[in-house]
Amino acid sequence: MTDPIERIPSGIPRLDAVIEGGFEKNSAILLSGSGGTGKTIFALQFLMEGIKSNETGVYISFEESKEKFYRHMLSFGWDLEDFERKGLFVFIKYEPDKIAQIVRNRGKDIGESIKSLNAKRIVIDSLSAYTALFEKEADQRTMLVNLFGMIESWGCTTIVTAEEDQDPLKYRSSVMGFMADAIILLYVIIKDDKTMTRALQVSKMRGTKHLFGIFPFFIDQKGIDAYPDQVLFILKGGKHMKK
Ligand SMILES: Nc1ncnc2c1ncn2[C@@H]1O[C@H](COP(=O)(O)OP(=O)(O)OP(=O)(O)O)[C@@H](O)[C@H]1O
Ligand SMILES: [Mg+2]
Repeated sequence: MTDPIERIPSGIPRLDAVIEGGFEKNSAILLSGSGGTGKTIFALQFLMEGIKSNETGVYISFEESKEKFYRHMLSFGWDLEDFERKGLFVFIKYEPDKIAQIVRNRGKDIGESIKSLNAKRIVIDSLSAYTALFEKEADQRTMLVNLFGMIESWGCTTIVTAEEDQDPLKYRSSVMGFMADAIILLYVIIKDDKTMTRALQVSKMRGTKHLFGIFPFFIDQKGIDAYPDQVLFILKGGKHMKK
């Protein structure tokens, strides 16, 4: 049976092979990990994949300044200034309280600019600065529901990053985890032999038979390079386990 879900390539080497061909078109993917785990690089690599096929990517930043960001990303060969000139990349910097105001207005302005840009891929980096604006949990929840509602209305495939604790069970039960169609977790793992490795896990992906194991990835001069065939941890008792 052919997959009824339209999928788009993630841009991460070999990841698509373990998620039935790519991210579901127009889905919202939560990309979570602690500081320095590679969230921003992963998210930008996803936009770069779209740019290869002339799809405009929008990067909404709550934290980094444009100059610094462009400089850092140049080390992977991603010339954002050039893509910006060609209309393929748009950097939008918002103070978190500004986005809160936008969400309150149901994101009309930003939605219109995204439509006029004909953008297909969006990154919001990072949600943590946004949720930190709301002290009460109930307010946080409402604003997250509104934000994800706004993202859905844009009709783009969107990666939202979050710098959070890495307890997958916590995410699955949280509003953020529930609202997202997919959750990808990035880790730094210390192995038994005392070596460290960066690792990735697809912890949730609606409508997708995906690999659940945690597998290594590296950051090199081209960005993220993933190795899903070298699973470090597997789900015990899973059918895919070798006897
Ligand atoms: N050119 C490079 N080659 C190899 N590794 C790099 C390179 N540039 C950065 N890194 C690694 O990537 C890390 C930063 O990745 P990234 O900015 O994507 O993390 P992040 O999860 O977004 O962090 P934060 O939560 O602080 O925003 C650096 O700490 C460094 O270890
Ligand atoms: Mg970052």
